[in-house]
Amino acid sequence: MSEERYAIECKGITKSFGSVVANDHVDLKVKRGEILALLGENGSGKTTLMNMLSGIYHPDEGTIFINGKETVINSPTDADALGIGMIHQHFKLVEVHNAMDNIILGGKEKYFNRKELRNKILSISEKFGLEVEPEKKVYDMSVSEKQTLEIMKVLYRGADILILDEPTAVLTPQETQRLFAILRKMRAEGSAIIIITHKLNEVMEISDRVTILRKGKSVNTVVTRESTESRLTELMVGRPVSLSIERAVVKEKKKLLEVYHLSVKRQDGSIALNDVSFDICSGEILGIAGVAGSGQKELCEVLAGLQPVEKGAVLYDKENIIGKTPAEIISLGISMSFVPEDRLGMGLVASMGMTDNMLLKCYRDSKGPFIDRKPAKKLAEELIKKLDIQTPGTETPVRLLSGGNVQKVLLGREIQSVPNVLITAYPVRGLDIHSSYTIYDLLNEQKKKNTAVIFIGEDLDVLLQLADRIMVLCHGEVTGIVNAESTSKETIGWMMSGKKEVESVAGTIH
Ligand SMILES: Nc1ncnc2c1ncn2[C@@H]1O[C@H](COP(=O)(O)OP(=O)(O)OP(=O)(O)O)[C@@H](O)[C@H]1O
Ligand SMILES: [Mg+2]
Repeated sequence: MSEERYAIECKGITKSFGSVVANDHVDLKVKRGEILALLGENGSGKTTLMNMLSGIYHPDEGTIFINGKETVINSPTDADALGIGMIHQHFKLVEVHNAMDNIILGGKEKYFNRKELRNKILSISEKFGLEVEPEKKVYDMSVSEKQTLEIMKVLYRGADILILDEPTAVLTPQETQRLFAILRKMRAEGSAIIIITHKLNEVMEISDRVTILRKGKSVNTVVTRESTESRLTELMVGRPVSLSIERAVVKEKKKLLEVYHLSVKRQDGSIALNDVSFDICSGEILGIAGVAGSGQKELCEVLAGLQPVEKGAVLYDKENIIGKTPAEIISLGISMSFVPEDRLGMGLVASMGMTDNMLLKCYRDSKGPFIDRKPAKKLAEELIKKLDIQTPGTETPVRLLSGGNVQKVLLGREIQSVPNVLITAYPVRGLDIHSSYTIYDLLNEQKKKNTAVIFIGEDLDVLLQLADRIMVLCHGEVTGIVNAESTSKETIGWMMSGKKEVESVAGTIH
């Protein structure tokens, strides 16, 4: 076997959808025992290329070599037989089945000895450090557990070429580390791995080489340790870009939202929020930090009128909004954009174009019996320009857009309505780095328009630069509310792990 034999080699791959050239003569190579990161802006063609390796799409032009041999991959079954396993961002598991049944589903074997099956699962678990509970039902699993199960599924079938499309977008930092440990083990065992991620620190940490796509073309491949985050960004965008956030200054502020002693229980009786009190002014960005599951989701749901509360009050302009319907809350000018794990699952209708999705939000404003589509279409056009949304047009069904572009539609729609209070959770999940900074700019713009912005985020560096104050949640309790300018990442980290900040910032409700 010559050293130049790659596990995967793509030469001149081209794929168009109508007038959109998603891949334009793309070259890519991965060796065994190597992790390649595939990097590129939203809509640059990463998922399309990977879908061709897993047999979902077929190239219009170009050649794929697997283990040095020219190969046509006609279907996912073909990919399976070649040892190629893909972990999609939208999991393909059957919720009502347990782990074991999901693993064998769609496989070739007809009869199973469940004891043998269990032993095989356990031996793969041990070899790669995967934690899978064979009897656990998928609907009882966390996102991270589902992902581990997807990996188990492809390993069970003997895959030694693994493709992961944005696997870390919805993982906590700890879960990401667990995933990376698995990938390192697979690399050591001689697997070839391609990983897509927008987080440059992850690219630097996990990959050996990086291939960069720009507008459908493979523009460069670099050795990771010889590159830097800023160099990678430049290659991705095509020009030097400065990525900085300037905290907007707003002088005139007015207290808009006050939350008093809010307690919420989850359906299973556990405590989601315990005696949470805070306030926020117009023209202010309040950052909320905390490990996932610390009560952020429930807080959003209370503020949107979707979650019953045990006790406490939420005053908007001195009026209690607890007990109001979501529609009544929206009509007060309180707007929510929660970017869910399944981006298409919430708030957008996948088969409709952007215009109709805009209408869903603003139809209440239209007068008379007929709906006027013109303002919605104009709004859609403005958003396309402002957020650089890659789409053939305002009527193209949103399910045909790339993952990040779907998200820009979702978020843009909320921001565009210039609400009095904007609550945004994880707005940059799945967005490329450049688009992420566009979103931070937009949040600053909202602040300057006197919107009170509640920003639930994951990246502490961003929270420290963008927010005025940061509230930290741990197990549903507020461990502190601090001034972003005068605090440190370490302090926030402590508070996230449950240590209370002694000197909370003045202006906080007690
Ligand atoms: N089935 C399809 N029909 C029409 N257009 C498509 C289809 N699939 C992808 N596209 C288009 O191809 C381009 C590349 O999309 P792709 O999903 O590969 O991007 P991506 O690099 O994965 O982006 P992201 O980072 O946002 O996930 C986009 O403009 C997208 O709208
Ligand atoms: Mg994609």
